[in-house]
Amino acid sequence: MEIEINLAEPEKRKAPQFEELAFGKIFTPHMFVMKYEADKGWHSPKIQPLSHIELHPAAIVLHYAQTVFEGLKAYYGVDGKIRFFRIWDHIARLNRSADRLCIPQVEPEFTFKAIKTLVSIDRDWIPKKKGAALYIRPLIFATQANLGLKVSCEYLFVIILSPVGAYYKEGFNPVKIYVTTEYIRACPGGTGEVKTGGNYAASLKAQDLAHKMGYTQVLWLDAKEQKYVEEVGSMNIFFYFESELVTPSLTGSILPGITRDSVLKLAPKLGIPVKERKISIDEVIESIEKGTLKECFGTGTAAVISPVGEIHYKGRSYLINEGKIGEITKMLFDYITGIQYGEKEDLFNWTVLLED
Ligand SMILES: Cc1ncc(COP(=O)(O)O)c(C=O)c1O
Repeated sequence: MEIEINLAEPEKRKAPQFEELAFGKIFTPHMFVMKYEADKGWHSPKIQPLSHIELHPAAIVLHYAQTVFEGLKAYYGVDGKIRFFRIWDHIARLNRSADRLCIPQVEPEFTFKAIKTLVSIDRDWIPKKKGAALYIRPLIFATQANLGLKVSCEYLFVIILSPVGAYYKEGFNPVKIYVTTEYIRACPGGTGEVKTGGNYAASLKAQDLAHKMGYTQVLWLDAKEQKYVEEVGSMNIFFYFESELVTPSLTGSILPGITRDSVLKLAPKLGIPVKERKISIDEVIESIEKGTLKECFGTGTAAVISPVGEIHYKGRSYLINEGKIGEITKMLFDYITGIQYGEKEDLFNWTVLLED
């Protein structure tokens, strides 16, 4: 399929000087859109000036949340080359999410071409500072006007781009997380392992509460027993107990994070043994009390690796590593960001250049 391209006015295309970049607040001047209709399939792909989208008030997505999304980044390397990080894995996850939500899948090669073309058009908007990047947000949602609960016959696939800085105001500094025992994020058989809006809507109440208490994000426990650690609001979680790095196994209610997978593959290469297993919140608290939990960090595309300096559980706050960044955390952060910015050897061929 050919992508029709309609460029924005030249003055709208000029990138501003990026000073303090927040996360997801500014957008590049172009967007990709493509329609789906049951009898035509995906059709009419376009890159056009960024604009609002017109939706019928009965659009299925607005009522029943039939929607999926992804989040990946393009980095401006130290060598002036632009790299995507694990783009094929993000596209594959978009399709797995789509399948779970009964949304028609998109052709991976074509999706790659759409992202590449869009990023290439807005390439001046990729921040050149290390730590900043171009965040790419593909999303697909149900547009058919129908108040009956059913699978939509029509969809829109949109890709927007946002130059971003650090995800947390703390930057690469320890964040504080709040363990909720009141709310759950996802349960077995639900949609926790895919990226769909409803998961995030359901997490807002607990997140709001955590924010009001001065915590950055919520740490979710399993839905059945409220006993095992699952993940953080938008990150997977790792604990470094004495000499072993561990992360909760994928149970079906945890998002299989691509940064999580990167740590699992990279850690052994850096001499750090790593394991996926069940981790109870009691084990975490006891290890903090005994001094055997040395480090804790979250992983995600937005923050890459985020040290956790404090955990709040059942009315008490526990400091981890005296609230400081740990050695293992720093080593993994440096290595992964090193690959993303073209400074370190890409041992697993995770990056794809915008231009070969
Ligand atoms: C719920 C949740 N867990 C974990 C992650 C981390 O996943 P990734 O490393 O693929 O960005 C994200 C972010 O996408 C998320 O939304």
